[in-house]
Amino acid sequence: AGRPILIEGPMPIEAEKFAQRLEKVKVEKSGTFVFYKGKIDGYPVIVAKTGKGMENTAAATTLAIEKYNPIAIINQGTSGGHDPSLNVFDIVLGKRVTNIGSLKTETKNAGEGMDPSQWIPMDLMASEGSGNDANANKVRYYEGDKDLLAAANAVKDQYTKGKVVEGTIGSADFWNNEVDRINWIHTNYGTSVEEMEGAAAAQIADAYDVAFLGIRILSNNKTNGGAYNPNTAEANQEYVYEVVKQYITTI
Ligand code: 5AD
Repeated sequence: AGRPILIEGPMPIEAEKFAQRLEKVKVEKSGTFVFYKGKIDGYPVIVAKTGKGMENTAAATTLAIEKYNPIAIINQGTSGGHDPSLNVFDIVLGKRVTNIGSLKTETKNAGEGMDPSQWIPMDLMASEGSGNDANANKVRYYEGDKDLLAAANAVKDQYTKGKVVEGTIGSADFWNNEVDRINWIHTNYGTSVEEMEGAAAAQIADAYDVAFLGIRILSNNKTNGGAYNPNTAEANQEYVYEVVKQYITTI
C-alpha cells in the first residue's frame, strides 16, 4: 500500500465519526493526540484527533508527518461564517488558508488606548529577522492542493445538506462574536469562514511539502444570524469521506 492519507479533526465530534468508518482500525496515542490507523477501500487512511487550536494542530501534524509520512493531509471540522451568503451546513473548500491571529499593532503611548481596526497582518514566515521588518506587514496564504481540490469538487453533488464552495479559511485561537470585527477580517483577509486549526496544519504541511486541503462546514454564522448547530460536524465528515474515496481513485 502507498503512503497514507491523513484526516484531521479537532474535537471528538469532528474526528470520531470518520474514525468509525475506517476498516481494520488500530489506535495509537502520543501525548494528547489520538491516531486511528485504518483503511478505506483497501487504502491506508489515518484519522487524527488533534484537539482544538493552532498549537495542538501544529504538533499533531508534525508528529503524524514524522511517524506516518502521509501523501496528503485534509484538515476538516466546523467553522463560523464570515460571508453572509454562506449558511449553516454549507461547506468551504480551502482554496486558501491563512492565519488571522498574527498581527502587529500601531504604536501608541500610555493612555492612548487600543485600536484593533488598525492592526496590521503580520507574516511570521516573511523573513528570519525581527517582527518589525516591514516585509512582514502582509497576509500569508497557503494554497489548497489542486488534486485534493479536484477530488473535493468532483463529489460535491453528493452533498445535499447545503452548498459546497471554494473559499478562504482563516484560523486563529479566537472565536469572534463581534460582527464589526468579523467584517474587518473578511475585508482584510478575504475570509469565507473562521476556525482554529487549518492555517497551523497548512503551515506544517508546507514545511514538509505535503499536499494539504482544509474542508470546513459552517456550524454558525454571526453575519446572517445562523445559529450554532453541532450536527454539522458529522455532516462534514460524511462529505470528507466521499472526498477521500474519490482522491484514492486518483493516486
Ligand atoms: N470561531 C472559531 N472557531 C470555530 N469553530 C467553529 N465555529 C467557530 C467560530 N465561529 C471550531 C474551531 C474549534 C472549535 C471551537 O470549533 O475550529 O476547533
